[in-house]
Amino acid sequence: MFSNKLKNCNNVNDFRKLAKKKLPFPIFHYIDGGADDEVTLKRNVESYNQCDLIPNVMRGVNEVDLSVSLMGKKLSLPFFLSPTALQRLFHYNGEMAVGAAAEKFNTFFGISSLSTVSADKISNLGGPKIFQLYFHKDKKLTQSMIDKCKEKKFDALALTVDTITGGNRERDLKTGFTSPPKLTFKSLLSYVFSPSWSLNYLLRDKFDLPFLSDYVGEGTSIALSVSDYFSTMLDQKMSWSDAEEIKKIWDGPFCLKGIMSVDDAKNAVKIGATAIMISNHGGRQLDGSRSPFDQLKEILDAVGGQIEVICDGGIRRGTHILKAISLGANACSGGRLYLYALAAAGQKGVEKSLFNLRSELLRGMKLMGCSKISDLSMNNIRFRE
Ligand code: LAC
Repeated sequence: MFSNKLKNCNNVNDFRKLAKKKLPFPIFHYIDGGADDEVTLKRNVESYNQCDLIPNVMRGVNEVDLSVSLMGKKLSLPFFLSPTALQRLFHYNGEMAVGAAAEKFNTFFGISSLSTVSADKISNLGGPKIFQLYFHKDKKLTQSMIDKCKEKKFDALALTVDTITGGNRERDLKTGFTSPPKLTFKSLLSYVFSPSWSLNYLLRDKFDLPFLSDYVGEGTSIALSVSDYFSTMLDQKMSWSDAEEIKKIWDGPFCLKGIMSVDDAKNAVKIGATAIMISNHGGRQLDGSRSPFDQLKEILDAVGGQIEVICDGGIRRGTHILKAISLGANACSGGRLYLYALAAAGQKGVEKSLFNLRSELLRGMKLMGCSKISDLSMNNIRFRE
């Protein structure tokens, strides 16, 4: 089913190594990097390792059901693929590769406002889809994205709330990463040494950001850092009443992506959101922000049962998902958990990364003595003193 090269990719880190070999360095570091000193980036992963699982035995777990209900959909996995931008820069099939893999595993495919494939093409994919919305200063642009999602019957909308200004991504400053990629003297060699990436970029469909192109015009072809994009294009006046208004216009399963505080989680309940993604944007925005897993219990104690709670970020292993769900999360999600694999091997790579996590979950559930996701509870986890 998988090539020998993919058979040797047993975890997220194996894919990371391969992606590093394949990609021009400005692009690799765009995926891999975080803000400032990358303290939060590291903590997002490490936080899962400061508590331990407590298994039960002899529970008759020959059959394991990993399915969960989330935002009105029944998913076959308790985790999904967070929306991430610019995917055709990582592999020439970009969003189509990621969406097709997600469809095979019947889990949510997150589509970014900065998708490099159009809604028309994406809507040919059959799996559950969640669109990630940036609240732009240009209200017609924001509205046009919601209209597109309705027209194409995407299943859920996630409003990103943690990007009103760009994080300080010093790796991007160093490498000069922009979208579309700009050739600088410094990065030139890296493109020369990644010939298959460079040929695909030059010879395949021209780079585009179709959700923006009608409104930003020239803007989608002007090389801009993602951080500058946030700071210049997104509306820093965004408020809770804007979120409420978007929810009303969308009129479907509605999620807030980037909630970290108990107060904000309570506000999300107040405006009737379906779900929150506890997230610090993969450590790419506010460095020093707490990790989603560290903050999970506090938020669940306040709003658990009143809104669906998703733990987004830092997931590298199936056991990380088991820990978040034991604490009470409805599901988990992540970007890098599939992005390195996309860069390494396109759709097959993403499929292998999902296969790995699913195998780890199936094995982990059996070893925990759990046959369904709702069997996991606080009894299964302890934090170290
Ligand atoms: C990021 C955006 C685009 O680079 O999600 O973090």
